[in-house]
Amino acid sequence: MSKKRVVVLTGAGVSAESGISTFRDSGGLWEKYDISEVATPEAWERNIDLVIDFYNQRRKQLHEVKPNPAHYALVKLEEKYDVHIITQNVDDLHERAGSSKVLHLHGELKKVRSSIDENLVYELEGWELKKDQKCEKGSQLRPHIVWFGEPVPLIPKAAEISSSADIYLIIGTSLNVYPAAGLVNYVKPGIPIYLIDPGEVHAPDVNLIKEKAGTGTPKLVEQLLKKAD
Ligand code: APR
Repeated sequence: MSKKRVVVLTGAGVSAESGISTFRDSGGLWEKYDISEVATPEAWERNIDLVIDFYNQRRKQLHEVKPNPAHYALVKLEEKYDVHIITQNVDDLHERAGSSKVLHLHGELKKVRSSIDENLVYELEGWELKKDQKCEKGSQLRPHIVWFGEPVPLIPKAAEISSSADIYLIIGTSLNVYPAAGLVNYVKPGIPIYLIDPGEVHAPDVNLIKEKAGTGTPKLVEQLLKKAD
C-alpha cells in the first residue's frame, strides 16, 4: 500500500530553537530592522550595501547553527509517510537534518541570483556575497530571496501539494504573510490539520498543540508513526 501523504508548512518558529530569530515575536528581526529598508526591491535599488550586509549576516549565522529535534522528527516521519515540507524559511535546516522533499517558498539564503534574469541561480560559496559579484550576463548578483512586493513563484506548486495532503501540519508560523498563509485553504475538507506553536496563532478548525516545535513535533510524530502501523 502506498504511504499516506503528510504535508508540513513551516515558518520561522521551527528554527527558533536552533538559535535563528523569528520575525514577529518580541525581539524578532522585524523589531530590529525595517522591512522596507532590507527586504524589498526598492531597498535593493536605494541601499544595496545595507541589503547585502543584512543577508550576509543571516547567511553567516546559518553556518553557526544546527537542526533541532523538530527538524529531525520530520525526517523520522518519512519512515512511514510521504512527507512534503513547504517552508517559508530561507535556512537549510530541513535539508541538513535529512528531509528529502523541501520546497522553499521564500527563497534560500545559500543561493544568489542574477538581478536581470531570475533563472540564473547560483550556490554561493561561503557566507559572503560581495558587491560587484556578477552573474554570467554581467549583472550584480542578489540574494535568492522573495522580497515583500515580489511574486511568490512556487505558490501554485505549494497549493497543489497542499491539496494532495492526507494529513496537514503547520509548525511555527504566525500565518501573517500571504500568500503562504492562504495555503491551508487548499487542504481538502475533512483532512486533519495540526498546528504546533506556543504563541497566539489564529487558524480555524485546527488541532492546536500549544508547544514549542522542538518538543511538540517529536511527540506528534510519534503518534502519527504509531497510527500508521
Ligand atoms: N516553536 C514553534 N513556534 C515558535 C517557537 C518555537 N520554539 N518560537 C516562536 N514560535 C512561533 C511564534 O509564536 C510565531 O507564531 O513562530 C511564529 C513566528 O512567526 P513569524 O516571526 O511571523 O515568522 P513566519 O510566520 O515564518 O514569517 C513568515 O514573513 O518576514 C517574512 O519572509 C519572512 O518567511 C517569513 C514570513
